[in-house]
Amino acid sequence: MSKITFPSKAIFMCNGSKCGKHKEVKKYIKQLNKESGTDDKIEIFKMECSDRCKSAPIVYFQPENVWLEKADVAMCKELIEK
Ligand code: FES
Repeated sequence: MSKITFPSKAIFMCNGSKCGKHKEVKKYIKQLNKESGTDDKIEIFKMECSDRCKSAPIVYFQPENVWLEKADVAMCKELIEK
């Protein structure tokens, strides 16, 4: 039996029609995660619309259970660095 190791943290980025337009946030999160060397600890997922479109873009951090609304680069940077 083989053992699979998963990162202990995850970032879910909404990829719905409203949030998906904010490509700068998605690009920044992926780039920062890689440059920070945290890509083995934090896995990034796309998620479908969560009906919070008025607050686009939505980014969700687990296991902290932190939902960012109107997420921008600075907000994401602060959370990833923590
Ligand atoms: S498109 Fe992101 S919450 Fe609807």
